[in-house]
Amino acid sequence: MYTTVLISVEIIMMVLATVNCEIPNYIHICKREDPELSACIANSVNTLIPYLKVGIPELDVPPLEPLQLNDVQLKLGSDDAKIATNITNIHVWGASSFQLLSLRAIVSPNANTFHFNVNVPRLQLLGQYAIDTKILFLNLKGNGPLEINITDYSFNCTMNGHKIEKNDVTYLEFERMECSMNFKNVNVLLKHIFNGNALLGNTTNTVINQNVDMFYKEIKPSLVEALGKTFTDIANKITLRFSYDELFP
Ligand SMILES: *[C@@H]1O[C@H](CO)[C@@H](O)[C@H](O)[C@H]1NC(C)=O
Ligand SMILES: *[C@@H]1O[C@H](CO)[C@@H](O)[C@H](O)[C@H]1NC(C)=O
Ligand SMILES: *[C@@H]1O[C@H](CO)[C@@H](O)[C@H](O)[C@H]1NC(C)=O
Ligand SMILES: *[C@@H]1O[C@H](CO)[C@@H](O)[C@H](O)[C@H]1NC(C)=O
Repeated sequence: MYTTVLISVEIIMMVLATVNCEIPNYIHICKREDPELSACIANSVNTLIPYLKVGIPELDVPPLEPLQLNDVQLKLGSDDAKIATNITNIHVWGASSFQLLSLRAIVSPNANTFHFNVNVPRLQLLGQYAIDTKILFLNLKGNGPLEINITDYSFNCTMNGHKIEKNDVTYLEFERMECSMNFKNVNVLLKHIFNGNALLGNTTNTVINQNVDMFYKEIKPSLVEALGKTFTDIANKITLRFSYDELFP
């Protein structure tokens, strides 16, 4: 009887050891009952950040740098200073330099919810613009490279997960994360505009930056979509790969 128990324990330990081996060392495991669960998960996320930057091929996680955005069309201004711009081939740099400011985890039989607050010191969007303006009573068209900096971009996000069963194993699957966000500054620069004509280029860039909130409002949906989808996908690549019990023993 006693021997049987010992052997069973040994088998269980071996099975556990084998299972644990599969989890790569850059994923820190947090115990469900850990009184410091939130701090433990925050620590796991911080460990993971440098890996996200370059991607994790064995988990099929692509590099975070750069992120690609959908094209954006926008119109700004009044009748005497109208600017229509199409932005294409937009790449976002800086998403992997996010700092996790706080994280609150609820891991229980009924809820698996993560609230967190992150700051991105600087996001840089690089793309190509095509512009059609009416400015200083002139109608002008032009195109060239575009640069947008968003500084001190802060996000409050919630990720809700639900348990799913696959081949009798329980996994955690996240719904698309929801965030509220604000930033300190957005700066836009349309480069080489109107063949480098300083006055027209300056005027156009000035008008755009005076209306930068409207400009941001137009690119925000594309940006929020890309960020939300990317980070939710990364979380799911991990939680759908390793079972709930492996990740939260
Ligand atoms: C932006 O794209 C639309 C649709 O393709 C096009 O009709 C419009 O002329 C473009 N605007 C500029 C400024 O290139
Ligand atoms: C995040 O939440 C904090 C505390 O509730 C609040 O002060 C801050 O303004 C929020 N930030 C954003 C970007 O929603
Ligand atoms: C964006 O930030 C970079 C690095 O700080 C700077 O070199 C560049 O001039 C900035 N561009 C704009 C449009 O603010
Ligand atoms: C605006 O014009 C000034 C001087 O003419 C120049 O130094 C500056 O770089 C220009 N700014 C932009 C954004 O083109």
